[in-house]
Amino acid sequence: MLVKKNFKKNISKKKEKKSKEILLQNPRGMRDILPEEQNYWDQIRKVLEQSYRDYGFGRMDLPILEYSDLLIRSIGEGTDIVDKEMYSFVTKGGDKLSLRPEFTAGLARAYLQHGMNVRHKPVKIFSMGAVYRYDRPQEGRYRELYQANFDIFGEQDAVMDAHIIQLASRILAALDIKKVQFQINSIGCPVCRKNYLNLLKKYFESKKNKLCQTCRKRIHTNPLRILDCKEDKCSQVAAQAPQILDHLCDDCRLHFRSLLEYLEELEIFYVINPRLVRGLSYYTKTVFEIWPIGEEGKKYSLGGGGRYDNLVELLGGEKTPAIGFALGLDRVVAEMKKIKAKAYVFPIPKVFLAQLGDLAKKKSLKLFSDLEKNGVLVAESFGRGSLKSQLRIANRLKAEITIIMGQKEALDGTVIMKNMATGTQETLVVNEKLPFIIKKALKNNGKVIKK
Ligand code: HAM
Repeated sequence: MLVKKNFKKNISKKKEKKSKEILLQNPRGMRDILPEEQNYWDQIRKVLEQSYRDYGFGRMDLPILEYSDLLIRSIGEGTDIVDKEMYSFVTKGGDKLSLRPEFTAGLARAYLQHGMNVRHKPVKIFSMGAVYRYDRPQEGRYRELYQANFDIFGEQDAVMDAHIIQLASRILAALDIKKVQFQINSIGCPVCRKNYLNLLKKYFESKKNKLCQTCRKRIHTNPLRILDCKEDKCSQVAAQAPQILDHLCDDCRLHFRSLLEYLEELEIFYVINPRLVRGLSYYTKTVFEIWPIGEEGKKYSLGGGGRYDNLVELLGGEKTPAIGFALGLDRVVAEMKKIKAKAYVFPIPKVFLAQLGDLAKKKSLKLFSDLEKNGVLVAESFGRGSLKSQLRIANRLKAEITIIMGQKEALDGTVIMKNMATGTQETLVVNEKLPFIIKKALKNNGKVIKK
């Protein structure tokens, strides 16, 4: 009986231990971005905020969930995202929803839903946030990843394609990432692509035995994707495949040629890659990816995008040409770390606020916000009681001035201002002038300027 009881106890202990282990783990492919890593993210956010405004974009925040049908229809069956990577579920009410695997489908939906097609064109939208893809996690590949997404609706001229590449290049340069190349291709329009796909199918059919299992299926579902399959044997077959650039219709060929001319004018480093097809089926004409120079073998893109002239129409709107791109921010941060790019520098408080006693603690809480509202950055340690330990913290933080409020000062409505370099102290009245006196003192090596 006792043995049985102990056995049960052990099992429940084991179970408890296991559930604890699971609770303390973030889901696979997802991670926490700690405060000490935020200086790179803040730098990115700063550059993005500036860039989207400079380039005339409006920001839009979209729900993290979309109807699965919208995503399937937009991104396309036969793509890895739709076939394998969506986090989809049915709600209690029976709705089929998915975590967004990208922004463009949701943006096209919102563009139509909010009647944005009547706005002055082009309509430029910026979005930023997490997207979700159930892929096999590895270096630079996450299941929760962050994208900065730029899309332009209502302009078909190739100058917009160049403009969006110019923007991507400008953002990366502002983040110190200058060694990048734009891999560029045109995948034509539905008219010229149809003929090309027939040719491609025939070619791959004749080499079927040399392809991987997945690509054999792709011959019928998505033959374009065979062109950028990472398997060696498929790559060899793809190298000899007919190239779409030789089969573009006049309109698509002209569009591509103009884009290249614009890029040359902008002196943007590009490489024509006839096997670049991208993993989303809404693209037409221009497609591009941004690769760090030296990492070409890894096919590790910092961002990618292209034109999608038929998506809005596919979703029930009028024909609306569009182009956009997304930067993969996790990879951008990794690249910034690798090249030791400039990170955001947080302003460091030069003033420390110390307090002693209950009344002083209460009053210094209010003083903290009065100082902060008037532009005086203040460090504090409200939880500490002893003045000695607070002054030690002030020293460690290299505060230039410590404002001390003890019991007596709290009752008198004053504070002591201590110059941390010289140790000199002065008593000041707590009133609306105090923040300005402190600011002046900071400029004057911690000394109060007497009127
Ligand atoms: P995408 O190429 O699928 O395009 O993703 C854009 C970028 O997101 C990639 O270049 C990469 O940096 C990053 N990324 C993608 N998957 C992962 C992952 N599993 N882990 C880490 N980073 C990743 C799109 O999403 C299109 N919606 C872009 C677009 C906007 N096209 C037109 N407008």
